[in-house]
Amino acid sequence: MKPNAKLYEDTQEILIRHEEVLNAVRKLGEMITEDYRGKEPVLVCVLKGACIFYADLLREIDLHVTMDFVIASSYGSGTQSTGNVKIRKDLDFDIAGRDVIVVEDIVDSGITLSFLKRVLQDRGAASIKIATLLDKPARRRTDLKADYFCFTIPNEFVVGYGLDYNERYRNLPDICILKPEIYSGK
Ligand code: IMP
Ligand code: MG
Repeated sequence: MKPNAKLYEDTQEILIRHEEVLNAVRKLGEMITEDYRGKEPVLVCVLKGACIFYADLLREIDLHVTMDFVIASSYGSGTQSTGNVKIRKDLDFDIAGRDVIVVEDIVDSGITLSFLKRVLQDRGAASIKIATLLDKPARRRTDLKADYFCFTIPNEFVVGYGLDYNERYRNLPDICILKPEIYSGK
């Protein structure tokens, strides 16, 4: 039995298995290594959802990189973006003149990342690219496009590999569809 078998009871289906995630992350790391050859990008992890993806991705990049972290939230405790984004933990470094790669868990409405991208542009980044683990285009409410993504997913609420529902399920190794009764309160 899996060590987190208890957590899997709240899931409806495994959408993407851990091994498949790791293969995609490896390929993305190789792509970034090629694209940024000769550069030293700042990789900005959007906490907390992206933390596991970020840790795996960094180790697949064969370049010097600067690590930095931001917490931006547009969600309350539900499953819909409120459209109201706040930076709750800012970057440690000045990114003026730097090549920035923003690493996010999922682009859903795109509201969080459009906001962040604008903030980083205003600070004078030399370039800004978005690397997201998951892309959920069905619910997009902005024209934001990810420069790099590992998987496009259907309009389902997913958890695991860093993604949460009310701070839970981040520690599931696979990306899973949560049983709707968990968030509909039935
Ligand atoms: P956006 O601003 O609507 O693009 O939302 C981005 C944030 O919403 C992500 O960073 C996630 O934290 C959260 N989010 C969106 N969809 C899901 C999902 O299916 N599962 C878990 N979190 C999600
Ligand atoms: Mg997030």
